[in-house]
Amino acid sequence: MTGNTNKNTGSHPFIELKDLSKHFGDFVAVDTVNLQIGRGELFSILGASGCGKTTLLRMMAGFETPTSGRIFIDGVDVTDQAPYQRPVNMMFQSYAIFPHMTVEKNVAYGLEKDRVSKGEIKTRVSEILELVQLTRFSKRKPNQLSGGERQRVALARALVKRPKVLLLDEPLAALDKKLREHTQFELMNIQDELGITFVVVTHDQEEAMILSSRIAVMEKGRFEQVGTPKEVYEYPDNRFVADFIGTINMFEGTVETAGDGSISVASDEAGAPLTGLTDRIMENGVKVCIAVRPEKIFISQHEPENQEDTCLPGVVEDLGYFGNLSLYRIRLDSGKIVQVSAQNRRRSAERFLEWDDRVFISWPPRSAIVLTE
Ligand SMILES: Nc1ncnc2c1ncn2[C@@H]1O[C@H](COP(=O)(O)OP(=O)(O)OP(=O)(O)O)[C@@H](O)[C@H]1O
Ligand SMILES: [Mg+2]
Repeated sequence: MTGNTNKNTGSHPFIELKDLSKHFGDFVAVDTVNLQIGRGELFSILGASGCGKTTLLRMMAGFETPTSGRIFIDGVDVTDQAPYQRPVNMMFQSYAIFPHMTVEKNVAYGLEKDRVSKGEIKTRVSEILELVQLTRFSKRKPNQLSGGERQRVALARALVKRPKVLLLDEPLAALDKKLREHTQFELMNIQDELGITFVVVTHDQEEAMILSSRIAVMEKGRFEQVGTPKEVYEYPDNRFVADFIGTINMFEGTVETAGDGSISVASDEAGAPLTGLTDRIMENGVKVCIAVRPEKIFISQHEPENQEDTCLPGVVEDLGYFGNLSLYRIRLDSGKIVQVSAQNRRRSAERFLEWDDRVFISWPPRSAIVLTE
């Protein structure tokens, strides 16, 4: 996973949301969100359906009035400004492009409405069509385009107005996997070239990981964590984020001994003590969760020698072979299933693991994520 470099270097945040909330009757769609986005960032809002992503974006664009809180863009309080007064453009989840207009006309429409001169419209439209690689389709109508090409028309239409901020609501949702990946990189290039600040809404975590300088993980109108792709993956703040991003094994337990930055956790699910590192001060008996990613776990038929590592015996319940990678489901004596993924670097003397093999799974303390919330 790559992720853009974080360009949040300016002295003041480019976009700032302060205690922003939106209530529909007694339903809270967005709940006291605070956020700062730097100039030129490609920021993603990631969350399940209905968590409030579109509502949040619509407030930033000015199509929805906040119940409370303020929105600042480039130091200016835009909360009471109409959409057209804000230096913002939004590409909607159900992007409406005009079916009776050619690609070219669709892209030019917003500039014509703004009474930009004919010559300038011509130059800007052709530049943008070049950028989204639609030049050769400029005379076509939308029904003569694929879903992905139509999505690029919508993108071109949003970009051509050169907004300081571009809000994209599920911009790649209509694309198949391959085109989606291709367009993701295109989007990153466009963003890099134009220096526009992007806020992208998605419910696809892989997409958020690949595209973003930073991600906000949203749940029930609130931000659970804001961080770089690496931070939310490697250092989730809580059980929700750990579980939401990628695959993870979680063991519930209680702290048995704590000190010197490490803890030992008793867990019925694990059946043996789990060790983890933490700089928080923890009392014995406190409930914690130890979380481990499948790729951080070693699997072997031999008991590992390193006494510091957590080591749990189990049986191979299921396995999948994916060429360079094998995925295992290991059943512990407690009945708990642990997912393990391993690179296949087998030396010829070793044999592959098989169903029902007795194995040991192990990991060093630094691979265990200690979660209290
Ligand atoms: N005008 C409205 N009146 C009442 N409830 C609304 C209104 N608009 C949105 N909601 C509710 O607010 C919640 C958040 O909606 P929103 O459209 O922001 O979700 P979302 O995160 O964009 O979901 P999706 O991924 O499905 O697009 C939903 O439960 C929705 O039903
Ligand atoms: Mg939505």
